[in-house]
Amino acid sequence: MHIIIKEPHEIELMREAGKRLAHVHNELAQIVKAGMCTKEIDEAGERLIRQAGCEPSFLGYEGYPASICVSINEEVVHGIPSDDRYVEEGDIVSLDAGVIWKGYQSDAARTHIIGSVPDEVKKLVEVTEQSFFEGIKKAVAGNHLYDISNAIAAYIKPYGYGIVRQLTGHGIGKDMHEAPEIPNFRKLSRGPLLKPGMTLAIEPMVNLGTWKVGILEDDWTIVTLDQEVSAHYENTVLITDGEPEILSL
Ligand code: MF3
Ligand code: CO
Repeated sequence: MHIIIKEPHEIELMREAGKRLAHVHNELAQIVKAGMCTKEIDEAGERLIRQAGCEPSFLGYEGYPASICVSINEEVVHGIPSDDRYVEEGDIVSLDAGVIWKGYQSDAARTHIIGSVPDEVKKLVEVTEQSFFEGIKKAVAGNHLYDISNAIAAYIKPYGYGIVRQLTGHGIGKDMHEAPEIPNFRKLSRGPLLKPGMTLAIEPMVNLGTWKVGILEDDWTIVTLDQEVSAHYENTVLITDGEPEILSL
């Protein structure tokens, strides 16, 4: 499991990819509304990605048919946009997007609350997002990879949520998925040493109920088995000599 250290010129391109992806997400946040079909969200996302001068990394990836993953409520990740699936008041909608800029990738996800949702759902979304920030406090050269995993898991634990185990974060660079895998759950070892120049997509996926998930007939959409809602938050992060740099924010 070799973790690629990026050269300064590569880091510059990853920064640029991240900045463009952040812009795409900020625009999408304004666009997503009750009454839209998920296909419209994908079309808006693809347009924004191309207007930013980037390629959508998801489109065609292992046959994935869209540029944005749109996962509603009990859908955890990899929801396929459709013209007969509508966003409704009271939903939570996770949008996952990836871009390629001059050969380098950035990957990020946000969960949006549509209108009013129960307090416990709002809390899940907040805790999922905050768990990312707790995790990256440990994303410092000299620490080890699973220090990040353990910080994410420790922050979530008191809430009793289910942390998805079948999917993890990942290294990212010229490829969307590079070594290492980055679990969001507790590990008993510390894992590989973190070094400046590593670029990581850290992405907690957290369920209101249990951690158990399954896959729908479409062979993509991951859903909670207990049908409880799930939240997702992701950014592409650069390990430096000091504080981590969040490239996609
Ligand atoms: N962002 C997802 C990940 O981190 C990738 C989406 S799957 C795809 O693994 F097929 F849409 F690309
Ligand atoms: Co990812």
